[in-house]
Amino acid sequence: MKKTATEYMATIEEYGGDILASDGMRSEKQFVQHGGTTTYSHSLAVTVMCLRIAAALHLKMHERELVRGALLHDYCLYDWHKPHKGLHAFTHPKIALENASRDFGVGKIERNMILSHMFPLGRFPRFRESAVLCLADKVCAVRETFHRKKSQKSEQCEV
Ligand SMILES: [Fe+2]
Ligand SMILES: [Fe+2]
Repeated sequence: MKKTATEYMATIEEYGGDILASDGMRSEKQFVQHGGTTTYSHSLAVTVMCLRIAAALHLKMHERELVRGALLHDYCLYDWHKPHKGLHAFTHPKIALENASRDFGVGKIERNMILSHMFPLGRFPRFRESAVLCLADKVCAVRETFHRKKSQKSEQCEV
């Protein structure tokens, strides 16, 4: 049976409540990711999208890793619109991984999820959780970029 947004949020709270409540993650509310969407809202929307894709495709997943890797995939903690070292598209997965490892610790699945979420740029997705994140991130990025006005009306991207 199809889950509701509230049920998906309960799963995210269960596995990633500590991440959502952290100072680092909360600081992402000040950074714009795409259009008018903050990095915090984007990360949450991508996580819900990962769970929805996994359910729709009936894919057996490591749900805890899926949630945590998705929440942390853009955990680079800077405004990528401002001047910074390197090309964001290529450098931010590694920065996100360094920050996520420092603040929460990550296993091999979350590690590959974060490093490969920009595929075909960068690393190859080695796990099904990584492939799902890669797809979910692109779906949400397109939606956020082309639904700018709608996104600006609410802090949390519609899931
Ligand atoms: Fe990213
Ligand atoms: Fe992203």
